[in-house]
Amino acid sequence: MTDEIVKFLSVAWDAANAAGEIIRESWLHPKTIDYKGAIDLVTTIDRETERKIVAVLQRNFPDHAILAEEETDLRGDDKKYRWLVDPLDGTTNFAHGYPQVSISVGLEQNGQPILGLVYDPLRRECFRAVRGQGATLNGSPIQISTVNELDKALLATGFPYDHREKADFYLTFFKAFLTRCQGIRRAGSAALDLCYVACGRIDGFWELKLKPWDTAAGALIVTEAGGRVSDFSGNDFSIWGNETLASNGIIHSEMTQIASAVAQSSRSV
Ligand code: IPD
Ligand code: CA
Ligand code: CA
Repeated sequence: MTDEIVKFLSVAWDAANAAGEIIRESWLHPKTIDYKGAIDLVTTIDRETERKIVAVLQRNFPDHAILAEEETDLRGDDKKYRWLVDPLDGTTNFAHGYPQVSISVGLEQNGQPILGLVYDPLRRECFRAVRGQGATLNGSPIQISTVNELDKALLATGFPYDHREKADFYLTFFKAFLTRCQGIRRAGSAALDLCYVACGRIDGFWELKLKPWDTAAGALIVTEAGGRVSDFSGNDFSIWGNETLASNGIIHSEMTQIASAVAQSSRSV
């Protein structure tokens, strides 16, 4: 690993760890909630953690671009590097005290993912990946599961914030997978869902309309752990795209066949 990558990793950890402390300290306190939409929440802690992470990144890399969910779109002088940050993934969980949240920090070099770090501050689990160097959980290498058929697979998914309006469409995918796999979890942090694919706790994951800050780190962690990430048709994954389908690779084509068939037969979103 180059000195530069070591520095990127160490700063990403400092930023995520500082945000994690804020989340842990505020966990049992009443939350101040604003609404971005009917069910799309944001708390003061989303903003506080974002400011903390951005301050750490800017202090160390003043020329880098940073895109974070709530209020940061710093283009940066040095277009070579861009950080993609979700300061609190799982805000609805956080607001209700449901213990499944994470901090997601990804780094691109010339538009290519080179580093991903997802931190679960409640379990103190830190998932990391560096392009070409594998993926780790708290420093130990991780890899995807060996489940070799959808019939035996545990899957995860999530629903976008327009799920009241588009419930039928999203449930078509849910039903198609529910009738073909062993079980489905909807835990509420897409970044952690991806990491759970990476470490073999689940075998596959799909979701529509995720944002770049949800997937930038987790998608690299999946591929570096030996898994695969694509759109619903099996095409190359883009953090800017509408479809995320991640798996251990072995069940990937079974999953894309189902997801693409549903997408084609259902009315468009
Ligand atoms: C959400 C979570 C959730 C997913 C939503 C995301 P947020 O992110 O990742 O699991 O289902 O689509 O928007 O709003 O908590 O950062
Ligand atoms: Ca998110
Ligand atoms: Ca968020």
